[in-house]
Amino acid sequence: MPEEMPGNITLIGFMGSGKSTVGRLLAQRLGWRFTDTDHLIEKVVGCSIPTYFATEGETAFRDKETTILLGVTAGERQVIATGGGAVLREENVAALRTSSLVVYLTTRPDVLAKRVARRPGERPLLTAGEEPALTLILRMLATRGPLYQSASHLLVDTSDRAPGAVVEEIVRRYQREGS
Ligand code: S3P
Repeated sequence: MPEEMPGNITLIGFMGSGKSTVGRLLAQRLGWRFTDTDHLIEKVVGCSIPTYFATEGETAFRDKETTILLGVTAGERQVIATGGGAVLREENVAALRTSSLVVYLTTRPDVLAKRVARRPGERPLLTAGEEPALTLILRMLATRGPLYQSASHLLVDTSDRAPGAVVEEIVRRYQREGS
């Protein structure tokens, strides 16, 4: 836990874990600003993330992601929803942990696979090849799971729960940590 209660809450986790949905509701609940780093990247680059991946590649995307993350962590009273790969760079994690209570939204792989299937084509890393999404998810989670764990202050499971219930758990635990 951070020494002083930070002025932001950041949500991390795999694609489909509910970062944007929960983040928007959590911001409303707290009366804070909602910041979605994927949306900010799309604004800056002027196209969708799948198009940017296809034309400029993943490294260019990660560079933009780091610039945006370092910029937004200077703010306060905001809920920050990150992209699923935000934990891949140490400088991102360091900036998030200093400025935010970092909450890892954990989700069972079968649930992630169902959720990402609802928006086909939106996630370039899950749609590039022939392999089923669940196989890709399991492989990526083997690498990323430990990164999400070590980057976070709190874990909250979203697998079989409505977003509102997840929001209430985060608020409860944020208030408990701060008292
Ligand atoms: C990515 C997750 C996506 C987006 C990009 C890369 C990742 O965000 O940033 O497609 O590497 O996991 P969501 O987690 O919001 O889908």
